[in-house]
Amino acid sequence: MNTENPPQPIKQEPITPKQLYLTRRKFLESVGIFSVSAFLAACMGNPPSSPSTPLAPADDMETRKDLALSYNNYYEFGTSKSSVAERAESFQMQPWQVEVGGLVKHPQTFSMEELLANFVQEERIYRMRCVEAWSMVLPWMGFPLAKLLEMAQPLPEAKFVAFQSVYRPEEMPGQVGLDFPWPYLEGLRLDEAQHPLTLLATGLYKEPLTPQNGGPIRLVVPWKYGFKSAKALVKITLQADQPVTFWNAIAPQEYGFYANVNPAVDHPRWSQSEERRIGEIGSRATLLFNGYDEVTPLYEGMDLKVNF
Ligand code: MTE
Repeated sequence: MNTENPPQPIKQEPITPKQLYLTRRKFLESVGIFSVSAFLAACMGNPPSSPSTPLAPADDMETRKDLALSYNNYYEFGTSKSSVAERAESFQMQPWQVEVGGLVKHPQTFSMEELLANFVQEERIYRMRCVEAWSMVLPWMGFPLAKLLEMAQPLPEAKFVAFQSVYRPEEMPGQVGLDFPWPYLEGLRLDEAQHPLTLLATGLYKEPLTPQNGGPIRLVVPWKYGFKSAKALVKITLQADQPVTFWNAIAPQEYGFYANVNPAVDHPRWSQSEERRIGEIGSRATLLFNGYDEVTPLYEGMDLKVNF
């Protein structure tokens, strides 16, 4: 993966502190923003008025929308971050289906409409740290992956979850021009996938996900490097073995399966101790697990330098 210069500094709204996201949820629920109908109304260009969300002091500010929608990693559309949005403009997100299968009691294929109707959509403001040492703070809409897995009912042999992004070379020039093992694949251990922070995102900035940000549905795993958060998902498979993953297959010494954000484990070609927050001047310290300390028990007893 490359690094490029970020766009210029700006001022934004404060992040929902991680401890408070449930409080925020309750608040939003009280103003009706969690109902599917409210979200669909937002999709139709008639959003509910923005609540004055209760926020605690924090030094994380939401990344400006125009920056988040124009500075993208999405190799299916090439390697230039600033060209992804334009190249993905006519990507067809309708109709869309996500197949959930493998070692589950109830394999099922969901249409996008069913996913929006069956799972309560909520807002989660998360830090996103790319392995290339830049970061953003993004207000996702979506639902916990755990809810979908609950519905599918993993069998006892299921230990991992594999994610597959769409393969559509006729619409995705990178799948033709870049000699990579398409489609883009990712994976999590089952307990990571079931963690309440792990999200299937369907929206961003209170609007449906744009193609360049992974629409219509993508994974978001906020304590891991951004490449774990696969875009444009079409398949979710429960399995006994650790899944093959895209970047790990290309460069295993550089991109591990776990890919937990960790300032103490450098990338072989650059330091991971600091990051550039897109829209800010200077750099800030990178936090273990991107600051999401609640995931620490998932890795108890593991050597994070070996399982990087
Ligand atoms: N998913 C797919 N299918 N293809 C990609 O190239 N890039 C990853 C991740 N998901 C990628 C992907 C990387 S490296 C990052 S940092 C994030 O998407 C970027 O997400 P964003 O463009 O919404 O900020």
